[in-house]
Order: sequence, then structure tokens, then C-alpha cells
Amino acid sequence: MRYRALGRTGWQVSEVSFGAWAIGGAWGEVSDDESMAALHRAVDCGVNFIDTADVYGDGRSERLIARLKRERREQILVATKAGRRLSPHTADGYNARNLAAFIEDSLRNLAADCLDLVQLHCPPTDVYYRPEVFGALDDLAQAGKIRYYGVSVERVEEALKAIEFPNVQTVQIIFNCFRQRPAELFFREARRRQAGILARVPLASGLLSGKLTRDSKFAAGDHRNFNRRGEAFDVGETFSGVDYEVALEAVEEIRRLLPAGVAMAPFALRWILMEQAVSCVIPGAKRPAQVVENCAAADLPPLAAETMAAIRGIYDAKIRPLVHQLW
Ligand SMILES: NC(=O)c1ccc[n+]([C@@H]2O[C@H](COP(=O)([O-])OP(=O)(O)OC[C@H]3O[C@@H](n4cnc5c(N)ncnc54)[C@H](OP(=O)(O)O)[C@@H]3O)[C@@H](O)[C@H]2O)c1
Repeated sequence: MRYRALGRTGWQVSEVSFGAWAIGGAWGEVSDDESMAALHRAVDCGVNFIDTADVYGDGRSERLIARLKRERREQILVATKAGRRLSPHTADGYNARNLAAFIEDSLRNLAADCLDLVQLHCPPTDVYYRPEVFGALDDLAQAGKIRYYGVSVERVEEALKAIEFPNVQTVQIIFNCFRQRPAELFFREARRRQAGILARVPLASGLLSGKLTRDSKFAAGDHRNFNRRGEAFDVGETFSGVDYEVALEAVEEIRRLLPAGVAMAPFALRWILMEQAVSCVIPGAKRPAQVVENCAAADLPPLAAETMAAIRGIYDAKIRPLVHQLW
């Protein structure tokens, strides 16, 4: 495993970290035993940073991570999220009282006295125009409830606005072979301000592992079934918002670029890690074997310039018209 600085936090986090959404819920049935095995394997591979949220399985993901921390001696940093318990999910809901209550829930679930990193969970855009929200987070940090805070965003413009607040340490954003716009302006600004970046949905919900086909079936409780058109939450969170059939064609073109003996998942993660602005990728994984394959990305050499250009070409031809200006 290799490690990178997470913005100004002073932490060195594993380049390949762990996304803990799937082990909580919304990805069909998962067994806690298998999820625990996946988490342990991640730590065995050198992963020291886990991304979760209070709403992943209504605390289930956070509670599994608390169990992992009890069972391991290594330092494990946890980034959780707050805000998605709001119903309706409005900017007004991001107030000091609600945030304090969400943080108490996460402290309980994670069996912690202080949260390492709390991210606003894709709040409405208007939240970034309310400095009092960030003031409330400063107060929670002052009170010793949270160590650092950051944001998880849908749009590049939200990311640019968020990092104007001086104590926003991290931005989580979708960035992968099928979602390249963050690299244009945002990464430059983030580097200038030394903001950490968590690249989420790095495998485009499994598409960029190369295993999915036209005939793949997803369980009723898997968002790849129930959120294909954004019925439950932002459509960009499912397959990066790319049309499934078009994405499969692009995956076949990427497959031709794989060096001998390299699987597509670590290759796709290595593509993301070519960006120095990125602190870590946070692939979701439900099984130990997936963790091992994803962590192999940290052992791959840099991708060749021709390979990078070829992926850019595939994006420009097939994917860009579908997603580039949407987020
Ligand atoms: N709004 C937000 O803040 C937000 C939204 C989305 C995600 N996130 C965070 O980002 C993390 C990553 O995104 P994601 O989980 O949505 O998508 P992802 O990482 O692109 O895809 C994860 C899924 O791909 C499959 N997979 C993983 N490794 C594989 C491998 N080596 N080979 C084959 N299949 C593999 C697994 O599903 P199957 O085995 O079932 O195919 C896994 O659940 C999440 O876990 C979460 O922590 C945050």
C-alpha cells in the first residue's frame, strides 16, 4: 500500500481506501460476516481510512466499522457523513441543532468520543451559501465532537464553493474514467488550497471492474436496479449516471488497453490515482477478494501516456456528451 497526505489534516491515508456503503445497505443482501471479513482484509492490505455515512443501513455500516476498530490495533481513520437523515432534505435542515443530533448518533454507532472526519452528505447547493452551517461545524470541532470536517458533493461548482470555507478539509466527489470533469478546474483549485480529495464511485458502481454485461441482474434492493433513472437519489450515484449500454461499449474499449495480467478494477483505480490532487480512491467492496484486487492498484506502475490518451479518447467520444455538463 502507498499513502498520501489528506489535505491539511496531517494524516497519511491509504491511496486505496474503503467505501462502506455497500456493507450497510442499498446494494442487495450482504452478510455481516462477509462484510467483516472484507474490512479485516482491507486492514491486512494496509487500508487505514474508511468512508461511511450515518444512513448506510441506518447505522449498520458505522456499527460494523466500530466492531472492526475493537478487533484491530492498527490506527483506522473513519470519515462519516451527516445530513441525509433530513426528510425533507432541505438546506434549512442543515442547522446547528440537527447537525449536533446527527453527530451524536454517529458517535454512538462508531463507539467514539470524537469523530475523525464528518462530511456534509451532498446537501442542497444552497447550503454552500450559508456560512452559518460551517460555523456550526466549527463549533462542533471546538466542542471536541469532531476532529475535522469536509463535504461530499454532486457538482464541481459545489466543490469549488465549498473549499472557500477555510476549515473545509476534504471534498468527496465522483471521479473515474467515466466522470472526468473534476480534473479540469477543481483539482487545480483543491491543490492550491491543499484540500484533500476522496474519489468516490471509482468503479462506476462495478461497471469498471469489467464484469457486468447486458444480462447482469441486480436484486430489488440494489440501487443498480431501483435507481437507474434517479428514482431514489441523484442518478449520478448509479453507474456514474452513464447510460448502461453505452457504458458497456466503453468498458470493452478500455478492456483492450489492459496490460497483460492486470484486471480492470485495479487498472481503473490506478487511472484515478494518476491525479496527484486525489488523496485516495474509496472503492466499495463486499467481499475480501474484491478488496485484495482493488488494493492491487497501489502496486501498479503509472499508466503510459498513450494509455491515458486512449482513455481520454474513449471518454470524449462516448461518455462526455452524456455526462460532462450534468455535474
Ligand atoms: N453521496 C455520497 O457521498 C456517496 C455516494 C456514493 C458512494 N459514496 C462512497 O463511495 C464509495 C464507493 O462508491 P460505490 O460503492 O457507490 O461504487 P464503486 O466503488 O464504484 O463500486 C462498488 C461496487 O463494485 C463492485 N466491486 C467492487 N470491487 C470489485 C472488484 N474488484 N471486482 C468486481 N466488482 C467489484 C461491488 O459490487 P457487486 O459485487 O455487488 O457488483 C461494489 O459494491 C461508497 O462505498 C461510499 O463510501 C458516497
